[in-house]
Amino acid sequence: MANGDAKHEQLDGVRADLTDTELTTQQGVRVDHTDDSLQAGERGPTLLEDFHFREKVTHFDHERIPERVVHARGAGAYGHFQPYDGWLGEHTVAKFLTDPNVRTPLFVRFSTVAGSRGSADTVRDVRGFATKFYTEQGNYDLVGNNFPVFFIQDGIKFPDFVHAVKPEPHNEIPQAASAHDTFWDFVSLQPETLHTVMWLMSDRAIPRSYRMMQGFGVHTFRLVNAQGKGTFVKFHWTPVLGSHSLVWDECQKIAGADADFNRRDLWDAIEAGQFPEWELGVQLVDETDEFAFDFDLLDATKIIPEEQVPVRPVGKMVLDRNPDNFFAETEQIAFHTANVVPGIDFTNDPLLQARNFSYLDTQLIRLGGPNFAQIPINRPVAEVSTNQRDGYGQQRIHRGGTSYTPNSLSGGCPAIGDSEVFRHYQTRVDGDKIRKRSESFTDHYSQPTLFWNSMATWEKDHIVEAFRFELGKVGHRHVRERVVAELDHVDHDLAVAVAHGIGVDPPAGGTENHGRSSPALSLANSRTDSIA
Ligand code: HEM
Repeated sequence: MANGDAKHEQLDGVRADLTDTELTTQQGVRVDHTDDSLQAGERGPTLLEDFHFREKVTHFDHERIPERVVHARGAGAYGHFQPYDGWLGEHTVAKFLTDPNVRTPLFVRFSTVAGSRGSADTVRDVRGFATKFYTEQGNYDLVGNNFPVFFIQDGIKFPDFVHAVKPEPHNEIPQAASAHDTFWDFVSLQPETLHTVMWLMSDRAIPRSYRMMQGFGVHTFRLVNAQGKGTFVKFHWTPVLGSHSLVWDECQKIAGADADFNRRDLWDAIEAGQFPEWELGVQLVDETDEFAFDFDLLDATKIIPEEQVPVRPVGKMVLDRNPDNFFAETEQIAFHTANVVPGIDFTNDPLLQARNFSYLDTQLIRLGGPNFAQIPINRPVAEVSTNQRDGYGQQRIHRGGTSYTPNSLSGGCPAIGDSEVFRHYQTRVDGDKIRKRSESFTDHYSQPTLFWNSMATWEKDHIVEAFRFELGKVGHRHVRERVVAELDHVDHDLAVAVAHGIGVDPPAGGTENHGRSSPALSLANSRTDSIA
């Protein structure tokens, strides 16, 4: 059996236990005294000569790196993944998904999205669910969320979206993503956000525990088999403990009592040997069915309903070890959607294509230059052999006199190419250069309505309460009105119920409503925090 501990064996070489060692400088020189600086006379100035003082303070001055531009706050853990059997081998050559004898080590980082590194855990927000599989064929990163859909369809909108979600620039208020004017202004002007906003206002946005959260790859990806045939795929993580949420009242109290509630829960469970588990499942769509749906598979604001394409189980992930050092492991890990292995490939989803640019770009600055893949937590267990050289933070001593191909002298790393290599999926691309969203991406209301109609009455009540709380904080009346008008396209009763709670006139009704009318809401007529 392939060793699920391969990553830990690699990391053991750099783990440092300094509990019973004597203090030295970075150069290994022992120091007898670190409480007073070297001074000219008992009350005199500190001397430049004091190399120990300068090294100590200089290092401290440089201890911080930029937090992630989004998903800044997180918690991570090590674990492993193992497929149940080999059925997926028909569709992909990715060994870690198809060989039941392979146990692949991995690291998962859960996160909130909008808040800064020090923000509270139990806020209403999307949760990141990013997994780095250290496979024998190289690192594969599944960089997902706990919602199956995303706010925008094209990554070029991501900076706009994040600027609207993050605290407002003049006063850096609020840390909470969904309780301010800029967020709702953007939502009201960009109806493609509505489906994910429905999830955001639901109990899915306030998970009880990271251990009790689903995860989704979101995009439609592509599996590729030994014959080079592609199959569309959506990835799903399902927690063995089931999906559980807090209620809003609990969230607010917990945020005050224990801002680390979700982090602590994950840490404590693993320390206690209560190892959380998830089942990985896939929805597969044959390429011949690419256009069989009433939405576009490339549109990340859409789910593939499970009634249409069931989720089929592939294997199990267990998280069984906490990190030793938050910064070295959880903070320095670098996930990237473009980290793929043979057998997994991309689609033309414009959100995914943008992500494939953005992660490496941001990590070049966040992690200090082009060698961050050599940081221990990011190192593959697969052998790394490139002609890349030098750069800030270089950790390897490359031997030999050449670092290029083709090469007739010696060394270099020729690309030989055997069955294990990554070959980009071959597909025909043909079209005019055009800056325009596809017509197949224009239905923004059917799936929000589908989501709303799938909710139980009490879940609908929670959604209405959430809209009232979050949207009710918006000072600009026209923004509140525009959101209500948008909700009227999702469900009239929903729009009326929200309007009643936020001091705007309920819509007259009869506007284009893509969904069935929903059962009467218990909250529909109970006017709560009214805002003029
Ligand atoms: C970070 C998920 C869309 C840019 C993250 C993280 C997750 C995530 C889970 C945190 C990774 C970690 O724990 O370190 C998603 C999902 C998306 C999405 C599921 C949509 C389906 C985008 C888009 C962009 C983007 C469209 C840019 C065009 C970033 C950046 C980071 C990040 C720059 C910070 C990465 C770092 O500093 O290491 N995203 N994201 N994301 N995301 Fe996304």
